[in-house]
Amino acid sequence: MQNKQFRVGLIGFGNMGRTHAWCIRNIPFFFDPVPFSVSLEALCTAHPDKTRSVCGRFGIPKAYDDVEALINDPDIDIIDICTPNILHYDALQAAVSAKKSIYCEKPLCVSVKEADEIVRLTQASPVQKTYGIVFHNRFFAACLKAKELIDQGRLGKILQFRVDYLHNSCLDPNRRAGWKQDQSICGGGVLFDLGSHALDLLTHLAGPVKEIFGRSQIAFKHRLGVDGTPWETNADEAFYMLLTLQNGATGTVTVSKISSGTNDDLSFYIGGEKGALRWSLVQMDILEFFEADASVPGFVQIPCFSRYPEPSGFFPSPKAPAGWLRAHLQSYYSFLTHVNLNEPADPSFEQGAYIQHLMEAAYRSAEINAPVTVGRAP
Ligand SMILES: NC(=O)c1ccc[n+]([C@@H]2O[C@H](COP(=O)([O-])OP(=O)(O)OC[C@H]3O[C@@H](n4cnc5c(N)ncnc54)[C@H](O)[C@@H]3O)[C@@H](O)[C@H]2O)c1
Repeated sequence: MQNKQFRVGLIGFGNMGRTHAWCIRNIPFFFDPVPFSVSLEALCTAHPDKTRSVCGRFGIPKAYDDVEALINDPDIDIIDICTPNILHYDALQAAVSAKKSIYCEKPLCVSVKEADEIVRLTQASPVQKTYGIVFHNRFFAACLKAKELIDQGRLGKILQFRVDYLHNSCLDPNRRAGWKQDQSICGGGVLFDLGSHALDLLTHLAGPVKEIFGRSQIAFKHRLGVDGTPWETNADEAFYMLLTLQNGATGTVTVSKISSGTNDDLSFYIGGEKGALRWSLVQMDILEFFEADASVPGFVQIPCFSRYPEPSGFFPSPKAPAGWLRAHLQSYYSFLTHVNLNEPADPSFEQGAYIQHLMEAAYRSAEINAPVTVGRAP
C-alpha cells in the first residue's frame, strides 16, 4: 500500500518555524522505515519579501502573504503554527474550520477562554483531525526514560519535586525587549514562555496539580522597547510556584530569565518513597536514578544519548550525544504518526488547554497572594 503523503503549511519562520522546517526535512534521516511521507509545501511570515526569499532558499513551493489563504489551500493537509502567541487563536480557529490537522507551538493560546474554545471547536468538528501541541521536552531520550521508570512504579509514591527552567536573557537592562517581554503579544511573561514547558514536564511525569501558590518578579522594569523607545516591562521576568499535586506530592517550579550564569537550564528532581530521578537539559544525555533498595548507595547514571525506540535509534549511533533539535524531531515524528493513524495527538490540545488553566491559576494566585485550587485535570 502506498504511504500517505502529508503536505505542511508553515506559519512563521523565526526560531521555531526554522526548527520545524528542519524536523520535516530530516525525518527520513532519523527514522526508517517512515510509514508516511511529509513535505513542506507552503510558508507565510509577517514579511512577504522574507517569505519569498526563504521559499527560494529552502525550495518551499508556495509563498503566501496571507495566513487564511495558506490555511485554506486545498493542497495542504497540516497547518503548523509558529507565530507569536497572540496570533495562535485566529489561526487555530481558521485551521479547525478548514478541517486540517494542526501542530501548534506552545502555549496553545493566551487565555483559558481562548484555549477552551479551541478545544470545544476541535471536539465539535464534524471531521476529527489530529491536533498536537509542541511540548517537545517530553521527547528527550532521558525524559522518555524517566516517564517509563515512573510508570513502572520505580519511584513508588511520589513525595517531592523541583523543576527549574532558568535563562539569563533579561539580565542585561540595555537589551531591548522582544515580544516575549510584552504581555499584549506574549499573553504573559516567562510563565507563558518557559513556564508552559516546565508545568507540562512536571504534570506529564508526576501527575496533575491540585493547588498552586505563585509569585511573580520583574527586576528590570525599564528598558528599551522593540522600536528603541523607552519601555516599561509588563511581563514577569521570573515566576515562582509552590505546588501540591493531586497525589499529594509537593514541590516547586521556578522559571526565570534573570538567572546569572545560566543558558537554557531546564532541570528536575522527582523524589518518591522508593527512588528518585534527576535530569538537566545542559547534560541532557544522562538521567540520574536512585533506587532505595539497590546495592548502590547513591544516584546511578543512565546513559540515554540517542537511544530512541524503533523505527529510530540507528542514526546517529544510539551512543551519540543527542542535542536540542533531536527532541523536536521526535516530537514532530510522534505527531505525524498520530496523523497517519488518524488518531488524537499526544500531547493534545486538551493538554495544552490544561497548562493554560495552570498558568492562569498561577497568575491569579500571585495577584491575590494566596493559593489557588485547580479544579480540572487534562
Ligand atoms: N517549543 C519550543 O522550544 C519553543 C521555543 C521558542 C518559542 N516557542 C513558541 O514558538 C512560537 C514562535 O516563537 P519564535 O521564538 O519562533 O518567534 P519569532 O519571533 O522568532 O518568530 C515569529 C515568526 O512569526 C512570524 N509572524 C509574525 N506575525 C505574523 C503574521 N501576522 N502572519 C504570519 N506570520 C507572522 C514572523 O514573521 C516570524 O517569522 C511562540 O508561540 C513561542 O512561544 C517554542
